[in-house]
Amino acid sequence: MDAKDRKMLDDILSSHRDTRDPAMLILQKVQTSFGYTGQDHLTYISEKSCIPLSKLYGIVTFYPSFRLSPPGKSIIRICEGTSCHVRGGARIVKELERQLGIGPGQTTKDRKFSLESVRCLGCCGISPVVMMDDKTYGRVKATKLAEILATHGGE
Ligand code: FES
Repeated sequence: MDAKDRKMLDDILSSHRDTRDPAMLILQKVQTSFGYTGQDHLTYISEKSCIPLSKLYGIVTFYPSFRLSPPGKSIIRICEGTSCHVRGGARIVKELERQLGIGPGQTTKDRKFSLESVRCLGCCGISPVVMMDDKTYGRVKATKLAEILATHGGE
C-alpha cells in the first residue's frame, strides 16, 4: 500500500470520526474507492481506528458485496436466478468455472477475469444470462462461452 492509498484511507477514516459504530460505513467507502477491501486496508483501518480486525473481517466475509482482492480486468456476472437455472444456467456456471479455473467471488491469476454470481440480472426473458462488464449475453450456450471470453480478452 503506497502513500496515496494511506491518504485515501485517512480521509475515509476522518470523515467518519464522529460516526457511531462506523465500521460498515468505512468498509463500504473503501470498497467503492479501491474496488475491493484487502488485507492491507483492513489492517491499516484497525490500527488507525481501534476497530478490532476480527470485526472488520467479520463484515467483509459475511456480506457478498465486499470483494477481498482486486477485481480482474473484466467482471463476469453469472445469473443463478430461478429463470436462468431452469434454462440451463447451472451448466453455464460449471463451464465458466472449468474454463477460468475459478469459482464465483474469485479472480483469475492473470487478473483478466473476476467471476460473480448474482440472483437476477433483470432480463429473465432471455435466460440463461451472462453479463461481461456492461455487455449482456442472453440465451447463452455453454459451447459459446469460449468465444465470449475471447471477445473480452480471454485465450
Ligand atoms: S433469473 Fe437470470 S436474469 Fe433473471
